[in-house]
Amino acid sequence: MARVLSGIQPSGELHIGNYFAMMKPMIEMQESNELFCFIVNYHALTSLQDEELLKKHTLGAAMDFLALGLDPEKCYFWVQSDVPEVTELSWILACHTSMGLLERSHSYKDKIAKGLIPNAGLYTYPVLMAADILLFNADSVPVGRDQKQHLEIARDIAERFNNTFGEVFTLPEPDISEDLAVIPGLDGQKMSKSYGNTIEIFAEGNALKKKVMKIVTDSTPVEDPKDPDKCNVFALYKLFGTDDQISDLREKYIKGGTGYGDMKKELLALIDNYFKPFRERRKELAADPDAVRKIMKMGAEKTREVARKTLNEVRGRVGLNY
Ligand code: ADP
Ligand code: TRP
Repeated sequence: MARVLSGIQPSGELHIGNYFAMMKPMIEMQESNELFCFIVNYHALTSLQDEELLKKHTLGAAMDFLALGLDPEKCYFWVQSDVPEVTELSWILACHTSMGLLERSHSYKDKIAKGLIPNAGLYTYPVLMAADILLFNADSVPVGRDQKQHLEIARDIAERFNNTFGEVFTLPEPDISEDLAVIPGLDGQKMSKSYGNTIEIFAEGNALKKKVMKIVTDSTPVEDPKDPDKCNVFALYKLFGTDDQISDLREKYIKGGTGYGDMKKELLALIDNYFKPFRERRKELAADPDAVRKIMKMGAEKTREVARKTLNEVRGRVGLNY
């Protein structure tokens, strides 16, 4: 059985980019893999420095996963900071990571280019992520394309450590589905909590409608033919529609005579319908946050047993168990 592991930052409300690229494949994989799924609140600290918001989004992300079908009995599901072994491993790995490796990180450079004032946590972010993955000897890590380099860094760190101290870590493989590699947001850029261009998984009613109606399109007149492959509305529609629905809509684009407003209404109906079955459960969970906290604490205990084993092995190899 392959060990599959991935995490998500509670830096905002989870959106349909997170859902299709990471959450949905993870939930499907719990049936036939050893699944490790967690909410990376230590990582979120690099950008979110607001006590109430971090707590709200951490619990909210846990509720989202549970409502969407993640079963804590079938997998390891926890909040990163409830398994503090990871920070110890992160320090040990940092001492075996060259500065050059981190200096080449696109994600770090992009964030600075966007005006973020970097802290040391942001710079060493990939080391903590390597620790997340290596602590559990994950074989496969399902992520969106933006995380590819982080996976390469984790592999580099593991290889270097193994070369120095003997085989300790499994080299993780990224699992990036090409169709889902980059899901566009309302403005056509990558949908991201940090760009304010998201459609939240559990948005409904008017709030959902407003978001969909805001999706940016070009100004081709209603009567004219339109190019579905250049349209953000169509890119999102493809995530939700059946093959027949997708080819019907494609035809409407090519034929002309349908405006973007109507295309958006079709998309809205699909999104609304898709998440409807999960909303009831999400509301029940929201009404009982203590029950959710308890699930997460139990998940952390189960996870720590695995974490302690690897950490002890690593401590021994580097000479900390004197
Ligand atoms: P965000 O950019 O919204 O903060 P995260 O960094 O927490 O999202 O990403 C969680 C997971 O979802 C990662 O595997 C990431 O690659 C994936 N992901 C996030 N946004 C998108 C997107 N727009 N398209 C594809 N994958 C995405
Ligand atoms: N950096 C990832 C992201 O922003 C989140 C993450 C942290 C992660 N640790 C991980 C993903 C370990 C996969 C495995 O999306």
